[in-house]
Amino acid sequence: MKEPDFRGKARRAVAECRRIAKMSEEPRRTTRRFLTPPVREVHALLRDRMETLGMTVAIDAAGNLHGKSQPDSAEGNLVIGSHIDTVPDAGAFDGVLGVTLALELVELAQERKLKLPIEVIAFSEEEGVRFGVPFLGSRAVAGRFDAALLELRDQDGVTLGDAIRTFGLDPARIAEAEIGESVLGFLEIHIEQGPVLEAEGLSVAAVSSIAGQSRFTVKFMGHANHAGTTPMNLRHDALAGAAEWIGEVEEFAMRTDGLVATVGRADVEPNAGNVIPGVVTLGFEVRHAQDEKRKEAETAMLDRARAIAGRRNLRIDVQCQMDQPAVPMDERLTAYLMESMESLGSTSQVIASGAGHDAMVMASRVPAAMLFLRSPGGISHHPDENVRDEDVEIALRVGLRFVERLAAEFR
Ligand code: HGY
Ligand code: MN
Ligand code: MN
Repeated sequence: MKEPDFRGKARRAVAECRRIAKMSEEPRRTTRRFLTPPVREVHALLRDRMETLGMTVAIDAAGNLHGKSQPDSAEGNLVIGSHIDTVPDAGAFDGVLGVTLALELVELAQERKLKLPIEVIAFSEEEGVRFGVPFLGSRAVAGRFDAALLELRDQDGVTLGDAIRTFGLDPARIAEAEIGESVLGFLEIHIEQGPVLEAEGLSVAAVSSIAGQSRFTVKFMGHANHAGTTPMNLRHDALAGAAEWIGEVEEFAMRTDGLVATVGRADVEPNAGNVIPGVVTLGFEVRHAQDEKRKEAETAMLDRARAIAGRRNLRIDVQCQMDQPAVPMDERLTAYLMESMESLGSTSQVIASGAGHDAMVMASRVPAAMLFLRSPGGISHHPDENVRDEDVEIALRVGLRFVERLAAEFR
């Protein structure tokens, strides 16, 4: 059998990611939040590619783009995908590479005349940037979308329901996005977004489990007042309180093995140099591979926020936006990935994921596995995010072996 052009396909997948990175809400930076106008451009590009491959294309009511290589079969089908939304000022590969590689795998499966039907999904939302709650796309596909989410509002006051309607979709039909019983499994290919594979000199690895994460909004409320006339001992400075707590969060996480805790967002009101800050709203998240450790840490850190606010005569409000337990990947599918790596003469390795992924939501519905690619410099959520062509090529080779393995079971 003729050897497929893995190198050419890897390069095309990377080039498509770079093209898609230009489809942005902002000039010169890649920012593409849930169902914002550039998502239409991404859909058009992917739809075109899917139709060229003879796939049947549809967009569900949660804005996920689906392409099916063959009609669903009672004997099962494989779903491969990742997300196409981004963080602000993102790189080109987080999520998107998992979609462009899925399409290359469809083409490879066609060249090999594999009978296994493959559905590719470009999930509409994974990062949680626009509405504060992540995995909106995969929740819908996994049948885990709570209709109350439609009331969430973005920074401009637009509800999630209205964002969906503005995109031309009907939020009342989200339940129809749920995948059918025939799905055999879900594969997500994703950049590692961390330094482990590079440090170990590995191109790819399978993922053993995905760390749990909690996200909160923590609001410190004091009194805005004149910065020149209000003596230091009569102030209720919300930002000084928030800053004290942020320092403690960092110290706490540094002394707790395996814990990462981040205050990644701060909105200061009124945010003027000569006004004592009246209100500070923080985005706070905590992650750990063990759920008990994560819960203990979040309780301890939030208790500290309350204590600091109490001592400074500030009011505090804490809202939990997400409490996502750690999720192990499916053992059988992960073993298939390992076998695929071994059969290619690569070192087979599993690593844990500190980042969240659609696979953690899909795993609640179908067996799910993930393949990570080395992230040069360990950089992600940053425009310098990158991949090496040779690693992408290896990911495709491993992916094809994995698909062949499932296809062999299929018939
Ligand atoms: O934030 C995360 O873990 C992922 O990159 N969405
Ligand atoms: Mn991300
Ligand atoms: Mn991602």
